[in-house]
Amino acid sequence: MKFYLSLFLLSTTLQAQDLDVYLRAQLKQFLITTPTEIVRPDQELLVLGHELFRDRQLSGNNNISCHDCHHPMIGTGDNLSLAIGEGGLSRQGSRTQANGEVVKRHSPPLWNLGHADQKEMFWDARVRIDRASNKLITPEPKLDNHPEITKNLSSALAAQVIFPLVSHEEMLGKPGSNPIANLKDSIEVWDAIIEKLKVSTAPNGKTYTEMFNTVFPNEKHNIGHAAKAMEGFIAWRFQVNNTPLDRYLAGDNQALSLKEKNGLNIFMNKGRCVVCHHGPLLTNNMVMNVGVPPLQVKGTTVDRGYRNRFAFKTPGLRNIAKSAPYMHNGVYSTIREVVEHYDQVIPHLRNFTIALDRLSAYSVELEIEKDPQVLEDIEDNIIQPFLRNGLRLTPSEKDDLVEFLEKSLTSP
Ligand code: HEC
Ligand code: HEC
Repeated sequence: MKFYLSLFLLSTTLQAQDLDVYLRAQLKQFLITTPTEIVRPDQELLVLGHELFRDRQLSGNNNISCHDCHHPMIGTGDNLSLAIGEGGLSRQGSRTQANGEVVKRHSPPLWNLGHADQKEMFWDARVRIDRASNKLITPEPKLDNHPEITKNLSSALAAQVIFPLVSHEEMLGKPGSNPIANLKDSIEVWDAIIEKLKVSTAPNGKTYTEMFNTVFPNEKHNIGHAAKAMEGFIAWRFQVNNTPLDRYLAGDNQALSLKEKNGLNIFMNKGRCVVCHHGPLLTNNMVMNVGVPPLQVKGTTVDRGYRNRFAFKTPGLRNIAKSAPYMHNGVYSTIREVVEHYDQVIPHLRNFTIALDRLSAYSVELEIEKDPQVLEDIEDNIIQPFLRNGLRLTPSEKDDLVEFLEKSLTSP
């Protein structure tokens, strides 16, 4: 891909019409299109997927569901920097630590994960469909011996959703706290969860046996079936393809304000955002190190991400305004802070102080890493020189970029 650092718009007074022609050519060059529509699955599958997604009976101690950390009313996230696992308290979408364990990463939003381009899951891509071999990679090698499960894990998303269930801190519970948490491997845990569901009633009042039999008749049900139902629900329910940018892509020149158009121009040119945020979902589907200041529970080791390179998955950006805070550890509370970060990456990596109200949900102390050796390691692993050097955006360029990220990418 070729990038023009164009002074075009600064030096010439363009007619509004020329600006639109120019932006459309750029959008095309960076393959920025509207994500394809996810077809609505059968109603019964959607209902089963939704029930599983919101039912705390999927957790070892019946105290947490997917919904608690990926709340549809708060941008499919939890408004926390680092997620709080089972044992935490949920009240009206707001979570506090109580007896919960702090998870080392931020709960990512679930927008557009059903799109065919989404082949990497988790901030470090540890669940993925390998792009060269088309093979499913997960942290559980024993899955390879269970084709009756993997036959229903036909996307990275479907494979991903079974992993929170086997995480002691997220959903399973500490060993000793319930019988399922004492089982010896993930396969046994998944089987036990299905056995438990078979004798349980879902939040909608129907039995799981009845619902599984309707959606998957004449089959012996396993965790793969539950995964397929949750995948169908998440993929359809959390798709985003009707933002102002999408209306603009469809030809409506009025869909974006002049300020948003200027912001889009910065996104594609001076800001270099498209180097990584391009294509239909505004992601290169890779893990990258952008020099985010590390945040962790005091006394624990720093999160080194993918292959110890401090690289994390490039998130798609639609609906970003709904899912603060930002980055793999939620250090940044606002989109403006993210833009300031990219403008001056190294100073942020070395000197950023997190907003105090970010820390109030936790009973343990969180800290931003200050060890010079670690910070140097992060810096050395940043590949793009323009990140190390900083962008030098003017205040009004930053305003426009923020306006674009907040307004143009947000669905009604
Ligand atoms: C304790 C809070 C918590 C619970 C409960 C939870 N998640 Fe998550 N989820 C997270 C965190 C944190 C991550 C990122 C972890 C990582 O990258 O290491 C994540 C990652 C994901 C991802 C990957 C998204 C991406 O872009 O890579 C999906 C999909 C997901 N969760 C779905 C679910 C589903 C479905 C459930 C219920 C079965 C669930 N989560 C339960 C906190 C939670
Ligand atoms: C080198 C690749 C790269 C470039 C260039 C880049 N990003 Fe990112 N972006 C990422 C990665 C990777 C993350 C996640 C980083 C992390 O958590 O450590 C991210 C995260 C974000 C997030 C937070 C998303 C979330 O869900 O938390 C926003 C917003 C964002 N980028 C906007 C931008 C903007 C605006 C620009 C241009 C000024 C930009 N990015 C340039 C790769 C890039």
